[in-house]
Amino acid sequence: MSFKPIQILSIGKAVPKAVITNDDLTKILDTSDEWISTRTGIKQRHVASGDENATTFGIEAAKEALLKANLKGSDIDVIVVAASNPFSVYPSTACCIQEAIGAKNAVAFDITAACTGMLYALEIGRSLISGGKYKNVLLVATDTNSKFVDWKDRATCVLFGDAAASIILTEASDGVDDILGINLYSDGSVGKNIEMNFKGDNCPLVEPSTLGKNKITMNGKEVYKFVVQTLPDAIMKCLDDVNLQPKDIDYLVPHQANYRIIEGLQHRLEFLDDKVIVNIDKYGNTSAASVPLALYEGLETGKIKTPSKVLLCAFGAGMTWGAAVVNLREGLNK
Ligand SMILES: CC(C)(COP(=O)(O)OP(=O)(O)OC[C@H]1O[C@@H](n2cnc3c(N)ncnc32)[C@H](O)[C@@H]1OP(=O)(O)O)[C@@H](O)C(=O)NCCC(=O)NCCS
Repeated sequence: MSFKPIQILSIGKAVPKAVITNDDLTKILDTSDEWISTRTGIKQRHVASGDENATTFGIEAAKEALLKANLKGSDIDVIVVAASNPFSVYPSTACCIQEAIGAKNAVAFDITAACTGMLYALEIGRSLISGGKYKNVLLVATDTNSKFVDWKDRATCVLFGDAAASIILTEASDGVDDILGINLYSDGSVGKNIEMNFKGDNCPLVEPSTLGKNKITMNGKEVYKFVVQTLPDAIMKCLDDVNLQPKDIDYLVPHQANYRIIEGLQHRLEFLDDKVIVNIDKYGNTSAASVPLALYEGLETGKIKTPSKVLLCAFGAGMTWGAAVVNLREGLNK
């Protein structure tokens, strides 16, 4: 229950210039557009090149959200960055963004909740504002999976892409709370399903270096099974907690990991196609950025009309998962 109501002020995004299609991948992998498209819904993904990285994308997305909110960096009180494969662990991505946008008054820190990162950040941002100590909170989700997937592992690398997205929250001066409910979950007992270890090397005086570069590993089948068993219940519980039913929701903005999972949710909620935001075909799974990027594009393309009530849901490594119901105000991001 919020003490201070929250307003969602703006959303920003940044995507890499370079695009890799499924056909491009056949040059380096034993795969096909047919296999990837039918099993996942992905047709292409954007990947970092040159000096681009999770920090540069995060900065770009943060700048756009500031512009859309008509705020300066110095207006921001807290920066929370959800990044699971950042450019650097320290300085944190949040501190790098703070410097780049001139947010000299902000407290800045990173969190790790993989693809559920933006929902976790939303809960943190809402708590910080509702507690009354902070007013403007910048949330950024940024991941460059392309730098950490094993490009020889066709069962994993074809699924992911890179992107960043950002959301600015503020204390609502009109008393209307845009965040109706958030339900988050974690289960470390199934953490081995998706891993990216920072193994490092032992001291060379103890033993020679044997560990290679760290890569994302995933048991796709187990992840799939886990998600279809847990996510629908999380969504229904979130709706129930705020006394809403699926018919009260205008749009579903799900994590874009696999179109078959999205389709399953759509059927469970009995939503028509125009109520479900899908952009997995263009971007693949962009981890923490996935949900806010889909939200941004839904608004930008006019598929999401405002005002509206939107159901967000995500799942990812950890395992972590969750759902949220938010209000999008008339004219948001225009
Ligand atoms: C990864 C995923 C698409 C695999 O789909 P699937 O139908 O379970 O496919 P399988 O793993 O059973 O593999 C079937 C076959 O395709 C092959 N295959 C795997 N990747 C392939 C690729 N890119 N191209 C062609 N064939 C591929 C496998 O080797 C296997 O071959 P085999 O039967 O000869 O052993 C699916 O399990 C999935 O989406 N899981 C969820 C992953 C996820 O969402 N992760 C992110 C969490 S945030």
